Amino acid sequence: MEYQEPQFFAVMQYASRAAGDVIDMVSGNPDWEPPAALREGLREYADASPDEFQYPPSEGLRELREEIAARRNVDVSQVVVTNGAGEANYLGMASALDRDTGSGVVLVDPVYPYYPGKADMLGGEPELVPSRRDGSLDVEAMVGAIDDDTACVVLNTPNNPTGAVYDIDAVRRVIETAEEHDAVVVVDEVYDHFDFGGDFESALAIDSPHRIVTSAFSKSMAITGLRVGYAILPEALVGGAKTRHMLVNVATSRPAQAAVVHALQETEPEYYERTRRLLSERIDAFTDALDAAGAAYTTPEGSFYVLARFDGFPGTMENVQRLIDEAGVAGMPGETFGSAREDWIRFALVTPRATEGANRLAEYFE
Ligand SMILES: Cc1ncc(COP(=O)(O)O)c(C=O)c1O
Repeated sequence: MEYQEPQFFAVMQYASRAAGDVIDMVSGNPDWEPPAALREGLREYADASPDEFQYPPSEGLRELREEIAARRNVDVSQVVVTNGAGEANYLGMASALDRDTGSGVVLVDPVYPYYPGKADMLGGEPELVPSRRDGSLDVEAMVGAIDDDTACVVLNTPNNPTGAVYDIDAVRRVIETAEEHDAVVVVDEVYDHFDFGGDFESALAIDSPHRIVTSAFSKSMAITGLRVGYAILPEALVGGAKTRHMLVNVATSRPAQAAVVHALQETEPEYYERTRRLLSERIDAFTDALDAAGAAYTTPEGSFYVLARFDGFPGTMENVQRLIDEAGVAGMPGETFGSAREDWIRFALVTPRATEGANRLAEYFE
């Protein structure tokens, strides 16, 4: 088996070895504060009794699952707490492929590289369907790609790397088509709190036994290191997913889950609004500077990534390394996200130095 290793860590390592100062816009690690109640929850946990340092229920702390179920308006039995959205996506895709209805895994290009990596690892056959130019779903192309050999379709909205927020009717068409061909759709909503226009609607609004929704607190609470996410699965699939989760992980970190419950209960909407405001301002400043650099770019409707294209400078690994060495700015090569955006470079706006980064780019491409 040949595993497809995503290139994020390789680029970050290259940037960390560079001789000069480099502004890191490679990965999606938030640079802002987690909710105050999250820190509080962790502190309190340090004084918990010894039994609270032992195995939690494999499927997740009951209190956390109940909190998630109430917020997402689903039955608590459908919720599995996972090691981030990453594991939730793995469980979702595995559940789809385990049904033995086919091996095809339909993905949207540009693609978050962990999806084709997982599809391969699980014995599926990834097929990439280009999104439209603005990053929205090309519904007809998606419908055309789903056939009787399709086991799974993976959608991600708000999207990494395009920033698109999918129209709920487009998502519905994909789910209905998947139902017709006995396939399962996994909708990764890990950026659901980063929706700048207020247009995002969760796929949970579409009731279907062929729909799995995944998410996490990694980005919404700025805690990618804590590893707490979840999958919401239809009744027929949840048992298998819980067993797979148990066999692979035993359980997810108990202190991290407890701190997330506390933060969910104590954090006001203002925390999330503040983050959205911070990111909106960053996006505006960053794209203004890209204008000055004469670059083409996408303005994200959601998530916190900007794709930029510089004339005569395609998004290859080699060019990204040149930007690190010669401009002091690190992004991700478009070619690592499938083939639809090979000319582009993705910048994650999770640094207070984002505008400085764009100014460096403007100077470099002058
Ligand atoms: C689309 C998408 N899904 C999943 C993840 C992983 O999330 P987590 O850290 O919760 O595993 C990321 C991280 O960048 C992502 O961009």
